[in-house]
Amino acid sequence: MAVTGLVLLGFVIVHLLGNTSVFVGPDGINAYAEKLHSLGPVVYIFRLVMLAAFAIHIIYGIQLTLENRAASPAKYAIQKRQRATFASSTMIVSGLVLLAFVIYHLLHFTVQVTDPAISAKANLDALGRPDVYLMVVKGFQKIFVSLIYVVSMVFLFLHLSHGAQSFVQTFGLTNANTLPAVNVGGKALSAILLLGYIAIPLLIVIGFVKI
Ligand code: HEM
Repeated sequence: MAVTGLVLLGFVIVHLLGNTSVFVGPDGINAYAEKLHSLGPVVYIFRLVMLAAFAIHIIYGIQLTLENRAASPAKYAIQKRQRATFASSTMIVSGLVLLAFVIYHLLHFTVQVTDPAISAKANLDALGRPDVYLMVVKGFQKIFVSLIYVVSMVFLFLHLSHGAQSFVQTFGLTNANTLPAVNVGGKALSAILLLGYIAIPLLIVIGFVKI
């Protein structure tokens, strides 16, 4: 789980950096998307690796949750967390919400079937490139769509605020002295990702980024 989680965390960081090209305008994100798609087979190999990492992460996550439940079948009369935080004890919930989000997100921006009229495949920009800028901006101008993203990003924050420090522990790279700093680092990284990701729909909704 730690290895695949790290791969997925790496993707989430790089994906946010790529997505910030939306703030440059059509010449930013449309050029970025065109460059990515021009990589041909590399894109498909990358997608296969990501799919494998995602599948392994989910299967082990569900297995771990079932094993934990089987280890304490009777509910305690008094539920009191010792070391566990809210984020750590809700990993399966936040994880499954993220699975639902990723399925929706792929249908929205990769397969582009949720709103075909504004899909980048159907609309080309002035330079003849798929208009990803139009798809993203017009998509997030719908409050309901933006709300789905903002709420999902809060779950991403919850998931990463435990996950981002958990893998450091799993790899044995921490001890009692360094653990508090690792915890703070994990939460800080998750908060930066939360702010970065929600900035995109929010700045579009308030009209700062427009078409
Ligand atoms: C405001 C937030 C986000 C925006 C604006 C955004 C934007 C996009 C766009 C435009 C694409 C299509 C790229 C293309 O085919 O040209 C895409 C693909 C994708 N996004 Fe996001 N994304 C966001 C958040 C996320 C998050 C949080 C995750 C993961 C948890 C994620 C995972 C993916 C994946 C797995 C793909 C498919 C990559 C591929 O086609 O190979 N995205 N995203």
